[in-house]
Amino acid sequence: MKNNFAVLGLQWGDEGKGKIVNFLSDRADAACRYQGGHNAGHTLIINDEKIVLHLLPSSICHKNALSLIGKGVVISCEALFEEIEKIEPIAKNIQERLKISPACSLIQPYHILVDQLKEKSNSFNTIGTTLRGIGPAYEDKVARRAIRIIDTLEEAKLTEKLEENVSFYNFWLENYFGHEKLDYEKIKDQNLAYGEKLKPLLADVSSVIQSLNDSGKRVLFEGAQGALLDVDQGTYPFVTSSNCSPAGIASGAGIGPLDVNYILGVVKAYVTRVGEGPMPTEIHDALGEEIANKGGEVGATTGRPRRCGWFDAVTVKRIIRSNNVSALCLTKIDVLDFLETIKICVDYDYKDGTNDYAECMDLESAEPKYIECKGWKTSLKGINRYEDLPLEAIEFIKKVEEVCELPVDIISTGPNDMGTIVVNKDI
Ligand code: GDP
Ligand code: IMO
Ligand code: MG
Repeated sequence: MKNNFAVLGLQWGDEGKGKIVNFLSDRADAACRYQGGHNAGHTLIINDEKIVLHLLPSSICHKNALSLIGKGVVISCEALFEEIEKIEPIAKNIQERLKISPACSLIQPYHILVDQLKEKSNSFNTIGTTLRGIGPAYEDKVARRAIRIIDTLEEAKLTEKLEENVSFYNFWLENYFGHEKLDYEKIKDQNLAYGEKLKPLLADVSSVIQSLNDSGKRVLFEGAQGALLDVDQGTYPFVTSSNCSPAGIASGAGIGPLDVNYILGVVKAYVTRVGEGPMPTEIHDALGEEIANKGGEVGATTGRPRRCGWFDAVTVKRIIRSNNVSALCLTKIDVLDFLETIKICVDYDYKDGTNDYAECMDLESAEPKYIECKGWKTSLKGINRYEDLPLEAIEFIKKVEEVCELPVDIISTGPNDMGTIVVNKDI
């Protein structure tokens, strides 16, 4: 059996995936991003230095690990090369260790423009996107007109596809938004130049993973966003445009659905959300702000404040059940150090009395029902042995396990590796 594993978020993103992937990187021979784009912001602390990655796998600073970007990722070349340049002094030999699928769709300047115009316009539902062009790029992919990396390697092919795209977008931009036309020649030249720059990094990622597995090596799949932002399983339409739940690993990386044998679902000890959309356990008073302050809850990509709420076991359990999640990683438990009482949402009452269509994740009318746990009122920051945790913290962790019906295999008590308790030594 293949020994691959995955680390992904089970809430609305920012669960601490980057820290955990970096921490677990020495247990893998390669790490692979398989969906999303530079809307992600994954924070790692290496030698006290804070590093935020958007597109590169969070294993990039481990000099022996191969870093892969699978075909399910939408790539902004500008963002990619900016990130490579920024990280190069810390992560050596990136050119040899980074492999990107030529089947990845590219984020074009018009995707970013349309994302921004739609978010500003009164005619569209405001989602509170990251304005990175993610939604429009995935729209083009599904509409079968996306420009993929492979298209930038051949001028004739690019010309044909780009002409079709630019005329489509020009019609929309001019007639709907009253915006000026796109500069076709400039976009074409940029694509050709990026194609040349990308060439040495390209590889058949699906086959690379296969070969690694054939020689007994292990691949770690790194999710971006969180399952509640998944376009099919999340709080639609307030979601991103990719499959960020475990179901997206196979299609986004080009592997079989049975090729991952351990899925670690990362959850914060509370919950946060950036942008619009329902969040039943949101704390609207000063306490929400206090948690946000203590947790440093500011978007790693856009700098927007994150909304905070109590741990919601209802949504997490739904995702666990429909996704074969193996175990939980509970992060940021230290942020709750100051609380007398900590709430966990274990059920919903629906204002309209029904939940027959819970699958639609229309959570606007969901009223949370809570249980309460006693706070520990002492600092957990940096604790790295289970036996050093106060009794109340252990009770809280056990309660999370009980309500989610899944073991907590890793506990995170701080932003760097020191504050990590590996409960399950077999990971
Ligand atoms: P990601 O998108 O899931 O990788 O998460 P982000 O990096 O966007 O946000 C998580 C934030 O919490 C970052 O600032 C991390 O440095 C920080 N962090 C991660 N784990 C912990 C933890 O256990 N305790 C505390 N206090 N901070 C953490
Ligand atoms: P990481 O990987 C938190 C949210 C946006 C918005 C919605 C759609 O760091 O956890 P998009 O630009 O993707 O079309 O925006 O999704 N969003 C995230 N929220 N963490 C992220 O990534 C996010 N990526 C997108 O705020 O509500
Ligand atoms: Mg983030």
